[in-house]
Amino acid sequence: MFRALADDTRRSLLDELFRRDGQTLTELEQRLPMTRFGVMKHLKVLEQAGLITTRRRGRGREKLHFLNPVPIRLIYDRWVSKYAEPWAASLGGLKAELEELPAPSSAPSPPEARGRSYPDRPAVTILFISGSSRDGSTNAAVLRTATALAPADVRPMLYGGIGELPLFNPDDDREGAPVDERVAAMRSAVADADAVLVCTPEYAGALPAALKNLLEWTIGDAGTYGKPIASAVSQLAEHVRAVAR
Ligand SMILES: Cc1cc2nc3c(=O)[nH]c(=O)nc-3n(C[C@H](O)[C@H](O)[C@H](O)COP(=O)(O)O)c2cc1C
Repeated sequence: MFRALADDTRRSLLDELFRRDGQTLTELEQRLPMTRFGVMKHLKVLEQAGLITTRRRGRGREKLHFLNPVPIRLIYDRWVSKYAEPWAASLGGLKAELEELPAPSSAPSPPEARGRSYPDRPAVTILFISGSSRDGSTNAAVLRTATALAPADVRPMLYGGIGELPLFNPDDDREGAPVDERVAAMRSAVADADAVLVCTPEYAGALPAALKNLLEWTIGDAGTYGKPIASAVSQLAEHVRAVAR
């Protein structure tokens, strides 16, 4: 079945039958830029894989083709668990949305070409912080996508140093104590931003330690005090708010 689905033309035939079930070979042939014989061969593969069924129209020789959703449903039930379903649906939605956007040119687009712009609104700088320091983090990927799609009047800044910050110790944060340069860089990134957006995984029902550590380093810093902060993960928003308060 996977071999049957791997072909572009066969997927187009399934799409076509999804659009209108019960079509004849002649009807399907008109939809595809290939010979009747070619379409017939593809339909045969789909039928052998159980992805379509056929029925004769009345007593005539002409066959009608119907989608058989059962094998696809079985794949869905086996690999798309209830837990993963909201993720799969959201990623599907994001993909569809991204595909509707104009294709990016090979050269980086100038700021004014990105997204919507609001000429009357002053530009805002938003610092994006991923709570995951994992290579290949999905949270970091979401923030990179948001950076690329930001409207022209939003200056996105991605913070990438969460894994390098030393462990917070109030002794190192005493008045007059030398400030670690990684901490100073993080604090000035927060201070320079108009707002902070955190996108984070949940670890053991709470914030990842690295993110909590970063937030702890901002507690005694006047430059970060009162900074608007939002969390892109609703169930953790309360934790972020509690720590950042
Ligand atoms: C140690 C650990 C604890 C986790 N705890 C939770 C949890 O409590 N709740 C949850 O929904 N996911 C939990 N996860 C799953 C992560 O949230 C999930 O893998 C997330 O996609 C990781 O984000 P990232 O791709 O940005 O690194 C945990 C993962 C790890 C490694």
